[in-house]
Amino acid sequence: MSDNNIRHFLDLPEIDPEILKSIIKHAHALKAEKFSPPQIMEGLSLAMIFDKLSTRTRVSFDIAMKQLGGHTVVMTKGEMQFGGAESIESTARVLSRYVDAIMVRMSDHGKLAELAKYADIPIINGMTDKSHPCQIMADIMTIEENLQSAKGKKIAWFGDYNNVSQSYIDASKIWDFEFIMALPEDLNKNVPSDTNFTNDAKKAAKGADVLVTDTWVSLGQEGKNIEKFWPFQVNAELISLANEGAIFMHCLPIHEWEEVSEDVAKSTASVIFDEAENRLHAQKAILAWCLENTGVRLSKPLGF
Ligand code: CP
Ligand code: NVA
Repeated sequence: MSDNNIRHFLDLPEIDPEILKSIIKHAHALKAEKFSPPQIMEGLSLAMIFDKLSTRTRVSFDIAMKQLGGHTVVMTKGEMQFGGAESIESTARVLSRYVDAIMVRMSDHGKLAELAKYADIPIINGMTDKSHPCQIMADIMTIEENLQSAKGKKIAWFGDYNNVSQSYIDASKIWDFEFIMALPEDLNKNVPSDTNFTNDAKKAAKGADVLVTDTWVSLGQEGKNIEKFWPFQVNAELISLANEGAIFMHCLPIHEWEEVSEDVAKSTASVIFDEAENRLHAQKAILAWCLENTGVRLSKPLGF
């Protein structure tokens, strides 16, 4: 059984809010140092396991580790004996002998938790069907860059209830912002009972500081009928109802031009590429926190 002191990054509600805020502070500092990154990962290795496609998560974790002086190994589902011929427990125990942390993107959140149960090293959630906490760390960073703070802001979500929106729900309790979801009526039942939601996109957009959306067809849902989502497309009309200075966010990739219109995605309100860049900086800070612990040899601790 793995040690309780291991710093896994599995889901936002499982981590002390002050730690999460501290990780974001370090992420801002690491961004300021992006052209001379501290070599804090010298001699350390990160394994990455993907059972789903990825561009940002894969490249940003890979480059984050390398810029900090560490190494990476990437494995995709078809390339390893994981969850099929070899059990999750065995995989966790073996990889714990080779590398210092594992970042995993897998559909089944329960299997991610099982991996963490048996690993002797930190496990990082690179997105499951339940949540996408690393994405939201980059999003909070981006909101702070543009609006100083997330606290007290109105953040409006449009479209589907999914892994990214669940992590926004989690984040609203940590960073103390108002979060409202606008989604088709038949999805009401999916939304956690303590979450503010509406079936009226205009109501959600009115007075919002941040408008955020994601694909209506998450990985694994290919072929889904999207007709019911059209009233929730983030477009110029919705943006016109938001507060002055409101920003548009999207974790990417955008399904052009479904959940957001082209004019909004390419407008000055859109911060989507800063948001994507911030994955790199946020992940450096997440890696530093995970590895900056007794028994792991971070050469120059950041001091959490
Ligand atoms: N936003 C995000 O996680 O992108 P990828 O699926 O490309 O990793
Ligand atoms: N909700 C999307 C996010 C992709 C980054 C998915 O699960 O595919």
